[in-house]
Amino acid sequence: MRNDLECTLFDEDVILSRLDQLAATITDDYRGKPLTVLAILHGSLVFMADLLRRIPLPLQLSCVQAASYGNATVSSGVVQLGQLERELLDGRHVLLLDDILDSGLTLASVIEAVTNKAEPASVRACVLLAKRKLREQEVSADYIAFEIGDEFVVGYGLDYGGHYRNLPCIGILKNEVLAAATLGE
Ligand code: IMP
Ligand code: MG
Repeated sequence: MRNDLECTLFDEDVILSRLDQLAATITDDYRGKPLTVLAILHGSLVFMADLLRRIPLPLQLSCVQAASYGNATVSSGVVQLGQLERELLDGRHVLLLDDILDSGLTLASVIEAVTNKAEPASVRACVLLAKRKLREQEVSADYIAFEIGDEFVVGYGLDYGGHYRNLPCIGILKNEVLAAATLGE
């Protein structure tokens, strides 16, 4: 899989030491508050597993399915959301986790659903990556591990057509890999 990368942006050790810092900040901010972490599937799975084990607070974990990408590297513009577990959201401080903030449509849809369908004490968002770009939806994340340019990346939970999620680092795919997949090879 690494051979398919044009370059590596963040190696595993760099990601994990940044997560140490991020988890320390989140731990300070939520100490003494009833916290529910709401992970957006599937992209946040690897990030969630490493981040949560660095937060030594009592917390509840809930997951919601969200899909906006097919096999393409651009957002379809439509976000499909799965069921929310209301009993884990009502009256609690909700921290959304997502892999990447791109157009903003996914995060905006989840925030809207959480605030419309439940009564959380607060809602904040934490993302592994945020692309520096103009977003289709005006939304920002409260916690960001890394900012990147407007490039399509894979690894550490992020996929291209369902592949590369288990790559331990984050990198940019070679153009020929993208072209071959687009042609269905
Ligand atoms: P948004 O709704 O456009 O902000 O995109 C959010 C979702 O699109 C993420 O949760 C990812 O699943 C996917 N996505 C956006 N950019 C990338 C990328 O560079 N690589 C892989 N998936 C991405
Ligand atoms: Mg994806």
